[in-house]
Amino acid sequence: MQKALDIFQEITEALLNDEKNNPVTEYIPSDEIYNHLDLKLKNEGIDTESFKNSLKKLVLATPKTATNAFFNQLFGGRNDTAVLGDLLAVVLNNSMYTYKAGGPMIAIEKEIIRSICNLLEWDDDSDGTLAPGGSMTNYKGMLMARDAFDPEIRHKGGRNDLIVYTSEESHYSIPKNAAFAGIGRDNVQKIPADAFSKMDVQLLREAIIKDKSEGLHPIMVNATAGTTVLAAFDPFDGIADICEEFKIWMHVDGAYCGSALFSDKYRHLIKGANRADSFTVNAHKMLGTPLSCSIIVTKHKKHMYNSFSNDASYLYQTNNDEYNPGKISLQCGRRNDALKFWALWKSIGTKGLGALVDKQFHLGDIARNYIRNHKDYTLYSFDESIGICYNYKNFPARDICTALYEKSEMMVGYGTFKGTEFIRFVTINYGNDEQDILNYFKQVEEFVENEM
Ligand SMILES: Cc1ncc(COP(=O)(O)O)c(C=O)c1O
Repeated sequence: MQKALDIFQEITEALLNDEKNNPVTEYIPSDEIYNHLDLKLKNEGIDTESFKNSLKKLVLATPKTATNAFFNQLFGGRNDTAVLGDLLAVVLNNSMYTYKAGGPMIAIEKEIIRSICNLLEWDDDSDGTLAPGGSMTNYKGMLMARDAFDPEIRHKGGRNDLIVYTSEESHYSIPKNAAFAGIGRDNVQKIPADAFSKMDVQLLREAIIKDKSEGLHPIMVNATAGTTVLAAFDPFDGIADICEEFKIWMHVDGAYCGSALFSDKYRHLIKGANRADSFTVNAHKMLGTPLSCSIIVTKHKKHMYNSFSNDASYLYQTNNDEYNPGKISLQCGRRNDALKFWALWKSIGTKGLGALVDKQFHLGDIARNYIRNHKDYTLYSFDESIGICYNYKNFPARDICTALYEKSEMMVGYGTFKGTEFIRFVTINYGNDEQDILNYFKQVEEFVENEM
């Protein structure tokens, strides 16, 4: 192991130095990647020095996501403490299905889940688990909604009269998961969003009434805390009223911005989300924990067991179900995604997590103010959002983003809302400061003037 650790140290130091000098990795077109790097797997192995060099080259050629030039997706930066936790989890290599295999790691996962349930003010009937990403925790929410409506589906297979509702601005995992769940993509009703990218509650109500009158069965409404493009928050109280009235499972997809839960200042954005039956949050987005760390909690522990438990005498041999979370997970063997988040939470406390969230909203304010004060920009985003969407002069957003990428200048992406395409700049990296945000705009402006 010592040899591997030495190589790790050397390559990591090289990466950290390179990040300072070259915050954006040199662009290599995908059809040329094999010409640049020694990627081929061969019959014979290679000596340690060649192996180390190959690995180092590979690492240094990989897109950098921890620098102040990565704004491309809904994660970024690097939290040292969380990285430390994850490294230890890899070295330990436990599987999180049983207490026998995971020991105290099962307890720290339970501690994370209990603490999130407490923040949501849920009682002891609540529980939760981790899955590899927000798409998968959303999937679990949908499966519980389906099985809560009709427990027989789990045994006998699907039916085609179940309807799921979600806003047109919600994440693509909702229809994708409906396909997996045997509900069918076509049975996902996309409810229009208002001008602020929030689900229109009146239209939701009308859609439910219409579907019921046609003999269909509404089983779940998905509400989003942080829509993928504009980072908007659905009206949770209004949606919860409807779900209570029609007895429909309410799921909150808080993968992106559900972490507002941790902030005293911004928790109001998810007011009413705790009336949901299930809630997902990604620590790998706003909380800066390494990918992936996604948590789902539900108010109804029994539905987690109903939907996911399976007996397996070769696996569950000791301890009780409470400490054998394989009984409520999607996977069998499951990596320890808890330690990195626990390490971070333990070290800075809930208040510290709240401060990380506040910082991102603060950086969002700085970006919006800059745009508002510069006449060459058009702003599409709203206050209290970390997704800053804008256009610059009349340059097409996709042309700017692609040119920045191909010239190895900056990583930023584009999105659309109600037919308008714009640059989506995300202030999710709390390691950035005000100057990083202002530098970003200056750099884009200079790039457009000189290169486009
Ligand atoms: C609103 C929303 N939900 C779910 C997801 C999926 O999360 P993951 O990428 O962890 O699967 C995303 C990803 O960006 C998202 O924006």
